[in-house]
Amino acid sequence: MNGLTDRLQMIADEIKQGETMADIGTDHGFLPLYLWENGISPSVIMCDISEPSLAKAKAAAGAYQFGRELDFRAGDGLKVLKSGEVDAVVIAGMGGLLIHDILAADMEKTCSFSKYIFQPRNHAAHLRYWLVSNGFSIVKNQLVREGKFICEVITVLPPKSSKNGDTDLSDTLPAQDDPCWDLPKDMLLSQPELARDYAAVKLGIEQKILEGMRRSSNVSDCELHNVERRIDYFRSYGYEV
Ligand SMILES: C[S@@+](CC[C@H](N)C(=O)[O-])C[C@H]1O[C@@H](n2cnc3c(N)ncnc32)[C@H](O)[C@@H]1O
Repeated sequence: MNGLTDRLQMIADEIKQGETMADIGTDHGFLPLYLWENGISPSVIMCDISEPSLAKAKAAAGAYQFGRELDFRAGDGLKVLKSGEVDAVVIAGMGGLLIHDILAADMEKTCSFSKYIFQPRNHAAHLRYWLVSNGFSIVKNQLVREGKFICEVITVLPPKSSKNGDTDLSDTLPAQDDPCWDLPKDMLLSQPELARDYAAVKLGIEQKILEGMRRSSNVSDCELHNVERRIDYFRSYGYEV
């Protein structure tokens, strides 16, 4: 197998030597195959809701697919896994809302795995807010370029049990629309240049939202103020595009 893309490599680097893993929404299966072929994960489970997608992973696995350690499972989200069956779970290349739904479907099972690596294609801020509100710890936020896009990779530890996750922490947290959920401080510190480019992308999006709001007659002062606040935050870290 050829090397991974920078995005998949960043995710692979979050899996420690000896950790078993499952890849939810594996599609081509490149990430788990890399981890297995390079002796990083002693066993990998490749999962996808789509049989045709899973067929791609089987084709990529080639001769390995009949090996003991490779496991292909068709089904929705974490439903195809037993509680605690692997150390780490990757959910990459899906929307943040779908990732949230997959996790919330069965919190007891969700909390049975030791670590998650998420790569939401969008709605990362929503996902971060939901995770922290429900007792998950975000240990790392990273950015990586893929073509014209900047992608987010989030490494997360779940609460020790779903009971901890029952505590709603939202009262003690910044509001859901606070831009700190979009552009967390650790990202700004660890990858300042890329974070600056990402802030500029976010700034452009918010400026378009503001233009639309100004043309509309039924936008409240509060909504306008919120968008202006987000623009100020992104402008303070990024630049005009
Ligand atoms: C864009 S691909 C991402 C492939 C790979 N994970 C990556 O990041 O390059 C998204 C995959 O997620 C699968 N998928 C979508 N919803 C799913 C769900 N609820 N459970 C499992 N897989 C799902 C799709 O069938 C598709 O193969």
